[in-house]
Amino acid sequence: MTMTSFDRSTRAAVLALACAAGLGGCAPATVAPAVQPGAAPAPSAQAMIPLPRDIHSFARPEQARVTHVGLDLRADFASKTLEGTATLDVQAAPNVHEIVLDTRDLEIRKVTDGAGREMPWEFGQADEVLGRPLTVGVPDGRRIVIHYRTSPGAGALQWLTPEQTAGKRHPFLFSQGQAILTRTWIPTQDSPGIRQSYDARITVPAGLTAVMSADMLTPQGEAVQGGRAFRFRLDTPVPPYLIALAVGDLAFRATGPRTGVWTEPVTLDRAANELAELEKFVDAAEALYGPYRWGRYDVLVLPPSFPFGGMENPRLTFATPTILAGDRSLVSLIAHELAHSWSGNLVTNATWADFWLNEGFTTYFENRIMEALYGPERAAMLASLGWGNLQTAIGDAGGPGAADTRLHIDLAGRDPDAGMTEIPYEKGATFLRTLEQAVGRERWDAYLRAYFDRHAFQPMTTERFLADLRANLIRGDAELERRLMLDEWVSGTGVPSNAVRRESSAFARVEAEAQRFLAGTPAAQLATGQWSTQEWQHFLGALPQGLTAAQLGDLDRAFRLSQQGNSEILFAWLQMAVRHRYEPALPALERFLTSQGRRKFVRPLFASLMAQGEWGQAHARRIYQLARPGYHPVTSGSVDEIVR
Ligand code: BES
Ligand code: ZN
Repeated sequence: MTMTSFDRSTRAAVLALACAAGLGGCAPATVAPAVQPGAAPAPSAQAMIPLPRDIHSFARPEQARVTHVGLDLRADFASKTLEGTATLDVQAAPNVHEIVLDTRDLEIRKVTDGAGREMPWEFGQADEVLGRPLTVGVPDGRRIVIHYRTSPGAGALQWLTPEQTAGKRHPFLFSQGQAILTRTWIPTQDSPGIRQSYDARITVPAGLTAVMSADMLTPQGEAVQGGRAFRFRLDTPVPPYLIALAVGDLAFRATGPRTGVWTEPVTLDRAANELAELEKFVDAAEALYGPYRWGRYDVLVLPPSFPFGGMENPRLTFATPTILAGDRSLVSLIAHELAHSWSGNLVTNATWADFWLNEGFTTYFENRIMEALYGPERAAMLASLGWGNLQTAIGDAGGPGAADTRLHIDLAGRDPDAGMTEIPYEKGATFLRTLEQAVGRERWDAYLRAYFDRHAFQPMTTERFLADLRANLIRGDAELERRLMLDEWVSGTGVPSNAVRRESSAFARVEAEAQRFLAGTPAAQLATGQWSTQEWQHFLGALPQGLTAAQLGDLDRAFRLSQQGNSEILFAWLQMAVRHRYEPALPALERFLTSQGRRKFVRPLFASLMAQGEWGQAHARRIYQLARPGYHPVTSGSVDEIVR
């Protein structure tokens, strides 16, 4: 998409004026580009939306913005570095001749213009959380080329040795940009409101394959000096946290015309079987909230140290292998990452204070996909587990009056990671369920579908969402406005009194069995015959503290809990075992903590051990020493704060 310099300066002037006029200091936009469903908008038009201030970026988007990133990088496993160039296309307001980028731990070699002439650049003051601003001169051609190298400790990159992979024979690399780690591997403006298209040429050692969150232009790669080069392109502008790369011994299998699975060859059969229904997921999501706008939807199943459950990288969700239960019982995680193709990747939280707009909408949408595919009872169970997690998270945050229980969270002076609790997910989803119930599903679905169209490819703030809700759903109905308690939901702490809570009748039966067990019925005589994973999770969660060693042994033997292959059930069991100092489960605990590095599982188990006095602390230190080398920095960073 080209733009004449006249267009450029006119648009920039409009932008500058909008900000200067104090439109909320670059607040809610009125200049929304018209977007055809399914079509990518002009990337340059995107950059014109005035943005709210992002305290987690050094960028000054009202002056200059990156609109496109072109990467040419070589992955060197020996030095654990990516080295090469990032070519940035810049849009600048009139009379602005420099741009401020975000970087962290990057080694800058030089900066040139598009023709190779050196440009001035300068690092600013470093900040422990944010990294270092990099100010670069912007030439008339509005294109800058940064020659750089990442550091071996780059927070976004994990370089795995062959032993840390499933196949054990080849090294592996993957990136994880969210929330503010893209700046550790790409020198760009790392703010979710500043959307950028990208292309890349990635050179890797022979025998390995590179994949990205983009269109794969050369699936076989091209032989080049010292390896193979793979080319990619994503024309749809995305927030920079969605630029993602993985390199390894990778194989692919289609699960449908537009879906498929990438993973290490040894994991391919299991992964393809677990995700055999992927195509149906996309169909179900589209039937709910409109066209899937990203072309393909593939899932990359990563080696076991992947620190998250999943990451919604466009066109290519990254997922933990801990969802490969063998019975498709943990696929709601894929429904979640897929749902982000609308809530998050299409309509994006403008700042990390608005994170709940990504995760709360997605958790709601995830549950609707699960309901469409597996029925209302499965959806009710998942929602009910979510409600339980919300209560726990509120407790962990300091109770219902704690500031961090607000949806619109104040992250001043903190890493956005601090806001990554179940609260934005489950309180956000509960808020949307409350809205749904107040106006009825039909009206709510029509609203939400139109909302995604109206704001496609744009950043969204909490304030703007409320304005949209009032303009397009409430429409002056004072009685409805009063009933919804909107301001209490987004600005208040705890859970408002009108919250809708979904009940599961299956869980009521599970609770009855838990009571029978507590009253003395042997575990083997409980009616657990057809229980799903979710019912097992609920059963274990429903058993109180204070069980005897005999009761724990009975459960363990009757249900072979320590031998569980299902990661969620095993996790729930191990939590219980640790809290009761049930020693026969220690080998299983050690196996689990040393065979995967998903933070959601690892952190709470170490925290529970550390809460068990000398006994638990000694085990925690011993196991952590074994497990830590295999963990991603995201995971070890949080466990370091717990195990000392
Ligand atoms: N986008 C998140 C993961 C994330 C959030 C990474 C913030 C870094 C910073 C992803 O969609 C997510 O929510 N993953 C969850 C699984 C989901 C089913 C709740 C996870 O990884 O546990
Ligand atoms: Zn998510």
